[in-house]
Amino acid sequence: MTELDGLKDELLAQVGAAGDLAGLEEARLAALGKKGRITGFMKDLGALSPEERRERGAALNAVKDAVAEAIERRKAELGRAALDARLQAERVDVTLPVRPEAEGRLHPISQTMDELVAIFAEMGFSVAEGPDVEDDFHNFTALNFPPGHPAREMHDTFYLPDSADGRRMLLRTHTSPVQVRTMLNRKPPIRIIAPGRTYRSDYDMTHTPMFHQVEGLVIDETTHMGHLKGCLIDFCRAFFGIDDLPLRFRPSFFPFTEPSAEVDIGCSRKGGELKLGNYGDWLEILGCGMVHPNVLEACGIDSTRYQGFAFGMGIERIAMLKYGIPDLRTFFEADLRWLKHYGFVPLDVPSVAAGLTR
Ligand code: PHE
Repeated sequence: MTELDGLKDELLAQVGAAGDLAGLEEARLAALGKKGRITGFMKDLGALSPEERRERGAALNAVKDAVAEAIERRKAELGRAALDARLQAERVDVTLPVRPEAEGRLHPISQTMDELVAIFAEMGFSVAEGPDVEDDFHNFTALNFPPGHPAREMHDTFYLPDSADGRRMLLRTHTSPVQVRTMLNRKPPIRIIAPGRTYRSDYDMTHTPMFHQVEGLVIDETTHMGHLKGCLIDFCRAFFGIDDLPLRFRPSFFPFTEPSAEVDIGCSRKGGELKLGNYGDWLEILGCGMVHPNVLEACGIDSTRYQGFAFGMGIERIAMLKYGIPDLRTFFEADLRWLKHYGFVPLDVPSVAAGLTR
C-alpha cells in the first residue's frame, strides 16, 4: 500500500504544481494517459491472482479517482485565475472621453425627431406611431374630409393599386391618421405626439414626395385654445433655443379642427438672410386647432364631454430653420459629405437639461 500512497502523493503534487492549463494536461497524461503511471499499474493487474487483483484494483481505482478529482479542482482554479488575469489585462476605463472623430453621423431628421421627443416628453406627451400605408377612412373620412371634399385634392395623394377586396390604400399624406388610430384605441385623457414619414406627389425646391411631420394630440375634458397656445409657444422657444421668440396665431382652415390656426414665428429677412427672433417679420411653421367634434365622434369619443387640440408640422422645415440647411432636396440625396457637415455625433443625446443644440 505504501507504494500506492507514495504514487498518489507524487501525482497529486504534480497536479498541484501545474501553473497553467497546458501544465495540467501534462500532469494528467503522466498519471492517466495511455502511457501514464496509473494506467501502467492497471496493466500489471493481469499478472496477479484474482484476490490480489481485486484488492489492488480497488486501491488503484481510489488513487485514480483522487487524482482525477484533483485535476478537475485545479482546472477550475486555473480557469478562474486565467479569467482574472484576462479581466485585468483587458480592463477598459469607461470614464475616458469618447474618441472625438466618430465616423458615422445621425441624419438631421433623426436628430430633430429626438429633440422633439425630448421636449414633448418633458411636457408629458408620449410617442405614438401608425402605418405609412393607410386607408381612406383613417387618412381622410374620419378626419372630417367628406367624400368629394376639395381639401382631398390639395393633398396630391399617392394611391396604391386597388386590392382584391376593392379597398384602395394610399400613402398617408399627413400624420393626422395617427390621431384617429390613437383615439380609436384608447380612452381620454390622451397626450401624444406622432413623428413619422408622410407622402405627397410633389417635387420642387421646397417639396419632396416623402417628407416628415410630427403630429400632436391632446384630448381631455377641459383643454382649450389657451393650452394649445401655451404648449406651442413653449415648444418653439425650447426647440429654437430663443427665449423671447414671438409666435402669431392666424385663423386658418383644416377639416379636422375648428377653430383652426396657422402659427408664424418671428424672424428677420434683412439683407436676404433669414434670422429667427423678435425682429418684426413673420414665417409660417405649423398648423393647429381644436379637434373638430365630428372627428371625436368618428373615433368613438363623446364630443359633449371631451375636447382638445391638435397640431402638425413639417420636420424638414423646422430642421432647416434651426440648422441653416438651405435646400430641402439635399436631405434625401444620401451624400456623405453633406451628412458629415450637417449630421450629428450619435452619442450627443439631446435632452432639455443638456441643451438641445450642437
Ligand atoms: N395635417 C395637417 C397638414 O398636413 C397639419 C395639422 C395637423 C393641422 C393637426 C392641424 C392639426 O397640413
